[in-house]
Amino acid sequence: MTAARPRTVLLTGAAGGLGTLMRGLLPGYGYRLRLFDLRPVEGEPAAVTADLTDAAALREAVKGVDAIVHLAGISLEAPFEKILHSNIEGAYRLYEAAREEGVRRVVFASSNHAVGFTPRPADGGPLIPVDTPHRPDTYYGLSKSFGEDLAQLYWDLHGIETVSVRIGSCFPEPTSVRMLSLWLSPADGARLFHAALTAPDVGHTVAYGSSANTRLWWDLSTARALGYEPQDDSEPYADELIAKQGEPDPADPEHARLGGHFCTRPPIWPH
Ligand SMILES: NC(=O)c1ccc[n+]([C@@H]2O[C@H](COP(=O)([O-])OP(=O)(O)OC[C@H]3O[C@@H](n4cnc5c(N)ncnc54)[C@H](O)[C@@H]3O)[C@@H](O)[C@H]2O)c1
Repeated sequence: MTAARPRTVLLTGAAGGLGTLMRGLLPGYGYRLRLFDLRPVEGEPAAVTADLTDAAALREAVKGVDAIVHLAGISLEAPFEKILHSNIEGAYRLYEAAREEGVRRVVFASSNHAVGFTPRPADGGPLIPVDTPHRPDTYYGLSKSFGEDLAQLYWDLHGIETVSVRIGSCFPEPTSVRMLSLWLSPADGARLFHAALTAPDVGHTVAYGSSANTRLWWDLSTARALGYEPQDDSEPYADELIAKQGEPDPADPEHARLGGHFCTRPPIWPH
């Protein structure tokens, strides 16, 4: 069955870094965005300001949308109780609202940290496959593993389709040597979300989310199978970043794993 192209999309986490980038880029693909975040979204008075665990507010926000891009949540490490609230219960509430309101497609912002303890591939070695076992590097990464399993459950049980995008690092430019492998340019991010919103018959698909980086660590084939054609590569930033930061030593535990410093000294959510 060919999926109808979704037009109205709920964007959760719209006030965040990635949400702000996607608010700028996704309308260019023809989407009308409805915005949702715990915090007010600057310049967007119509945005819904509510917690993901506010079931009534979430159900109202979901009513009538064609699809959901779920970015809201704690995006760094935090005490388990906070992760439980925003990322685990929050994701569950989102899927319940989707089920109750008949929304058939979700794009879930998963993360490389769902598989962060996976050893990074040797130079020229095989890329990390999408079916590598979950190896979360933090409670944060654990919540992304949970989100992927939740997406699988809601597909198997309720027929709600999801693309779980294990995002690398989506920022305007790569800012570390590690990011040379994981960088997802904002323009490629929008290309990937658009592909995830429109590809037919995705069931539950897990895809790595990065640009076509020369120093890629993972296999982009499931993303490409959705119709994603990345246009960017972090390599033009490589010389300057390596000159400043040096080549990472693969024997250093911080650089030995996909999750990088999340495996050794994870950055803590500020709020
Ligand atoms: N930016 C990246 O490179 C990257 C990489 C991997 C995964 N991700 C995932 O993508 C998503 C967006 O990332 P980001 O960098 O924009 O993060 P961010 O922290 O900038 O934004 C997250 C947003 O979620 C909102 N939020 C948090 N808890 C909430 C709750 N309980 N109810 C409602 N809203 C809530 C916050 O207010 C914030 O605006 C996150 O889920 C993150 O884990 C991002």
